[in-house]
Amino acid sequence: MGIVEGLKVLVTASTRGLGRGAAEVLLDQGAYVVINGRNPENVSKALSELKSRYGERVHGVVADLTSKEDVYRLVDEAVKYLGGLDSLVYITGPPRPGKFTEIGVDEWEYNARLLILNAIWLVNAALPHLRKSSNPSIVFSTSIAVKEPIPYLALSNVLRIGIHGLMKTLARELAPEGIRVNAVLPGHIETERNRRLIEDRALREGKTYEEVYREYASEIPMRRLGKPTEFGWVVTFLVSKYASYVTGASIPVDGGLLRSHF
Ligand SMILES: NC(=O)c1ccc[n+]([C@@H]2O[C@H](COP(=O)([O-])OP(=O)(O)OC[C@H]3O[C@@H](n4cnc5c(N)ncnc54)[C@H](OP(=O)(O)O)[C@@H]3O)[C@@H](O)[C@H]2O)c1
Repeated sequence: MGIVEGLKVLVTASTRGLGRGAAEVLLDQGAYVVINGRNPENVSKALSELKSRYGERVHGVVADLTSKEDVYRLVDEAVKYLGGLDSLVYITGPPRPGKFTEIGVDEWEYNARLLILNAIWLVNAALPHLRKSSNPSIVFSTSIAVKEPIPYLALSNVLRIGIHGLMKTLARELAPEGIRVNAVLPGHIETERNRRLIEDRALREGKTYEEVYREYASEIPMRRLGKPTEFGWVVTFLVSKYASYVTGASIPVDGGLLRSHF
């Protein structure tokens, strides 16, 4: 018997990387899961891999999280497939790396949709369904950048803070209704996105991929990058009834990288 047996969960941005890690642990632990991505090929590839292990407990919806219409349709289709909704696990696509001065005004607008506005749309669409659940929760995935800004990730440093304002606001407002709202802050997890960040830094600093990878790892007290399923286990715990008295919390999954006390 898994720790989220029978729970109905929508995990956004989940054909690979962190979202996929979360979806896999949730499925392993008995949940029914709807995955999502923008690219139809990625969604059907991920879906056929997951269906071969979890059968009809998993479904996929193609939707672009920067489009309000797509986000409302995504929740609608997820609820139809699952027959309700117990948990919304919010993960989004990655912003491009860069300094503040390298990012144009239009790019800020696009990334505001990618990194913050879509969370507001998703919560609005999901809330009426979560209110009908007996174990409702929302888990927002952000980044350790919300506690300690990361050089060359201006978009993430600036915009993700808003998700924490949303998380703390919702946690207090929804606690009397029994809806728990928490955040997970990944550090360096081995995903395609992280491989691109390492390549980018290697190019900027005239180093090899392996040199930068070793530098990344040496900055982490646990001396290695994390696995998507290690992130997924923390998400799954927060979705489960074992986190029944946890709300408004921000949990880093970073191998000890953050230095701040809180
Ligand atoms: N990996 C880390 O160490 C780390 C650390 C901190 C924060 N983060 C953040 O966590 C998020 C996930 O990172 P990741 O490393 O898992 O990235 P990834 O390996 O590149 O995976 C990204 C996933 O998001 C989907 N996606 C991208 N844009 C989308 C959109 N507009 N609408 C719907 N789905 C979309 C992709 O599917 P499609 O391509 O099919 O759309 C894919 O499934 C990003 O926001 C990233 O910045 C990652």
